[in-house]
Amino acid sequence: MRSVAIMTAASIRTRITSLFGCKYPIVLPGMSWISDHDLVAAVSNAGGVGILASGPLNAKETREAIHRIRDSTDKPFGIGCTLLMPGAKENAQIALEEQVPIINISLGKGDWIAQRAHEYGGKILATVTNAKHAQSAIDSGADALMLTGHEAAAHGGDVTSLVLVPSIAKRFPTVPIVAAGGFADGRGLAAAICLGADAVAMGSRFAITKESSLAQHMKDIVSNNEIDGGSTESDTVYGKNFDGIPARVLKSKESLRLNAKPAPLPTVIYRAFRAAQTMNIPLYKVLPGLVTQWDKMYMVAQFGAATESLMKATIDGNFEEGVQFIGQSQGLIDDVPSVDELVQRIIREAIDASVHGRDTFGGR
Ligand SMILES: Cc1cc2nc3c(=O)[nH]c(=O)nc-3n(C[C@H](O)[C@H](O)[C@H](O)COP(=O)(O)O)c2cc1C
Repeated sequence: MRSVAIMTAASIRTRITSLFGCKYPIVLPGMSWISDHDLVAAVSNAGGVGILASGPLNAKETREAIHRIRDSTDKPFGIGCTLLMPGAKENAQIALEEQVPIINISLGKGDWIAQRAHEYGGKILATVTNAKHAQSAIDSGADALMLTGHEAAAHGGDVTSLVLVPSIAKRFPTVPIVAAGGFADGRGLAAAICLGADAVAMGSRFAITKESSLAQHMKDIVSNNEIDGGSTESDTVYGKNFDGIPARVLKSKESLRLNAKPAPLPTVIYRAFRAAQTMNIPLYKVLPGLVTQWDKMYMVAQFGAATESLMKATIDGNFEEGVQFIGQSQGLIDDVPSVDELVQRIIREAIDASVHGRDTFGGR
């Protein structure tokens, strides 16, 4: 079935709300240290779907986080597993054992996860940035695709959501789509649906809510363009020198400095090992990969090396020395609402925007 959205005064129903069993087509994507059990439960309780970021968690912490989500909500939720990263496969195993309703996989082949999730009725949401990876995710059993456009915080692809969403929707008309990258309000949700998506995922927007554990100073910078040089849609930097994969971060002296020049190899390896220690990842899991799969593991090492700078900003609110993932949609953010207020506002705005659209096009 093609993407069809049914909007009424109280709800918006799409293929994603049917597939995931949620009230609204709004997803909280995985954000390390931010999409924790509290924020996930808040978004799912508000009618959307919260996805737990399992990247910073070991297997025991992942299981505990899943239990805490279940203590706070009986609504559907998901877990994000970035399969390339050390510890991700173990976290996916835990998610399967715990029968988490939605597993969001990225950067790796997840056929074994899809097969086991489908046995208990779980759904697979695969994050991709282009048609080739979309095809491979569908072949591996993905039930829906999350498309990350160029505007996105962190690892958006080369292509903007405005082109990526309709292009993939046209190519794979039977697969439900969650559009990510650039969406922060109801106009964005209505536009995404017009482009062929069935839901939006909002990272930057949910990071700036009362329930988010993002450092207060970062919330202040993003929601108030008077602080620390401003945070308009233009104040981001996109490059591959932050964590090895092209990523978008908040513009700052430190991010401009890092973007200008890659860190030397010994620094990357040293910082990666230090990050592995901080996150309690045993070195035996990092070392063999470094020797046998150098290309991939250099990327993983860079990813690990970035952990320190990201934690400084996200957890400590250190704008001077830290690096903060943020999307261009920060230009649309000027307050810090509760999750529930935000979701209700977005639904109202989306319905208003669709009425405006109908009036403009002369429909009834
Ligand atoms: C503060 C913040 C932290 C994020 N952390 C991660 C992360 O650890 N891993 C990841 O794959 N994506 C991460 N993302 C990206 C989101 O999962 C999502 O793709 C993105 O936020 C969508 O674009 P938007 O910010 O325009 O909504 C992060 C985004 C933000 C805003």
